[in-house]
Parts: sequence; C-alpha cells; structure tokens
Amino acid sequence: MLDYKALPKIELHAHLSGSISRQCLHEVWLLKKAADETDLQDPLIEMPPGKHDYDLKTFFPLFSSYIYNLVNDGPVLRYTTLSVLRDFAEDGVVYLELRTTPRAMPAVGLTEADYVRTILDTIAEFERSAEGKTLRTKLILSIDRRNNPTQARQVLALCKQFLGLGVVGIDLCGNPAVPLDPQLAPVFEDARCVPGLGMTLHFAEAECSGSDAELDMLLSWRPDRLGHVICVSERVRREIAGRKGIGLELCLSCNVHAGMVHGGFESHHFGEWWKAADAVVVLSTDDVGIFGSPLSNEYALAAQHFGLSRAHICGLIRKGLDVIFGGEEEKSRLRDILWKA
Ligand code: IMP
Ligand code: ZN
Repeated sequence: MLDYKALPKIELHAHLSGSISRQCLHEVWLLKKAADETDLQDPLIEMPPGKHDYDLKTFFPLFSSYIYNLVNDGPVLRYTTLSVLRDFAEDGVVYLELRTTPRAMPAVGLTEADYVRTILDTIAEFERSAEGKTLRTKLILSIDRRNNPTQARQVLALCKQFLGLGVVGIDLCGNPAVPLDPQLAPVFEDARCVPGLGMTLHFAEAECSGSDAELDMLLSWRPDRLGHVICVSERVRREIAGRKGIGLELCLSCNVHAGMVHGGFESHHFGEWWKAADAVVVLSTDDVGIFGSPLSNEYALAAQHFGLSRAHICGLIRKGLDVIFGGEEEKSRLRDILWKA
C-alpha cells in the first residue's frame, strides 16, 4: 500500500486558525490557565478528540467565540503557527499555502499588519530549523464575507504591503450564510490588477452561497482558483469547466463531515472533476484541526473511494503545481521533488 505520508504533497487550501490541532490548543490553554489568563473551557472538552461533525451552524462560532479568545497574543500566534507548520511538514507536505484573516489584537497592542508580520516571521523561523528544511510556506490573506468594504480594502492593502515578502494571494472566505456584499466587488476587481497577486475564492459552499447571480459575480473577478465548488448549476459548472487552467481546491473530509455534500465520500464532486481536461484539481484539508483528516489521509480517501492508482495520485499532485501562487522558482524546486517521488 502506498505510503501517503511519505509522498511529497502540496496543500493550497488550509486556514491557519482551523489547522491548529486540539492538542496544541490544549497546551496553550494550560499555559493561560496557569497564568490565570483564561476562563475558557479546556479545548479537549470544548472540542472532544474524535468529534469532527461540525456543520455550518456549529463550525463558524468555534472561531469567534472560542479559538480567537485563546489565540489572542503574539507569542501564542507564533506558538500555534509553528505547531501548524510542524504538523504539515510531518505529514509530508513540501509546499503549503496557508491562508488567514488578518486580525488585530488590541488588548496586546497588535495591529493587523503585526499579525501578518508575526506569521511571516514564524514561517521564516521554521524554515531555518532542521524540521522545516523541506516545507516551503506562503501566505494568502482572506477577506471574510462579513467584512465591510473598508475592512476588505485594508486586507488588500496588507496584501500589497507584504507581496514579495511571503504573501502571494487574496481569498474570500467566511460563513456562506452571510449574504455577499456587492460592495466588496471593487476590492476584488482592484486585487485582480495587482501584478503577482493570486486570487482564490470560496465558491458555492452551500445552497445559500450558490446562486447564479453570486457565482457570476465571483467569476467576473477572474479568480485563479476556487474552493469547494459544491452547489453549482449546470451552466456555472460548464463555465468553470471551460476556464482553462483554473484551480479547484476540493476538500473531501471537511465537506462530508460538515454535511455539505450528501451520500458520503463516493458521491463527492471530486469524482466528477478530477479527470476534467482543463481544470486542475488540488486535494486540500481546509481545517485539519477541526475535521481531523491530514492531507495524506485525503489522498488515501481519494484512492479508496474513487479507485485512484499510484500513478493517478502522483499525476494529480504534479498537476497541482500549475496553480500554485508561489512563483517560478518554487515551481522548479517542486518539480525536482515531485518528479523524483
Ligand atoms: P483564520 O482566518 O486563520 O482565522 O481561520 C479561520 C477562519 O477561516 C474562520 O473564521 C472562517 O471565516 C474561515 N474559514 C475556515 N474554514 C472555512 C470554510 O470552510 N469556509 C469558509 N470560511 C472558512
Ligand atoms: Zn476554506
């Protein structure tokens, strides 16, 4: 049987805060508890190990009402980011595009720019260490659907500030139940005009964010990649299939555990897309800390449920290279690694 962990892999859709393991959150909680800095419940009780069936209603509040209250200062941001990087590296990921919503921490005097800088510094620190030798990580900054246009503009400004310093793209994320503010459109249209900045969008995650009107607007921003692509009409599906080279970040466990697709793994739309001629499908974890399935396991699941051979799996990983935002030098490094595997 193929050793999916040993196989070098690329991960393009992973949210920083959702990728923190429960064990790491527990360690943070122990430190904060000892310093009398938290009234929160132990993460191992709040999110029991083995519980992965968070749906769209229970998932998003986990961040605003729990995780963000634990990850609320610079040292913890560094500690949790290091832990996330270590977990991806140990799982055999050699290239990671981590995404995060810039978040100020006013109680400790940290601005949104400080937040981004802390993460980039932590990535650099990890890459200098022995355990970080093969993993290269880039950052995507997310605009949340609940952001107002001013906040969204601020994220774009941060993308420009840190472009070339580790930030490679912009994302639209957040609870699909929040209606999309059309006033965000000019921000993404401007982002499209920034040379070298990639664009990926959470796309049709649920019925409520899958209207043709919304999806036509998102597609008019000419994104490089789309995340999830679940609730699409036949017309939109054809439109995507016709966009040569578009990247599709598909997440098996997250979608199945959260009940976003019905009928289990076998009926996941990965089965329709992975052989598509023009689209580039990239298996991704989304929130491994919540849904508990590392990237190696996502590949194992794809092989198990869709009959992928070793050649299919390696082909899929190599094809993913075409849609990374990390630039030509990184592509060439990855070609060496992936074609030797
Ligand atoms: P952060 O941006 O690093 O703080 O990661 C957590 C944030 O990512 C959450 O507040 C969500 O807005 C966003 N997020 C995580 N998973 C999903 C998803 O599946 N769909 C949309 N947004 C998500
Ligand atoms: Zn996501």
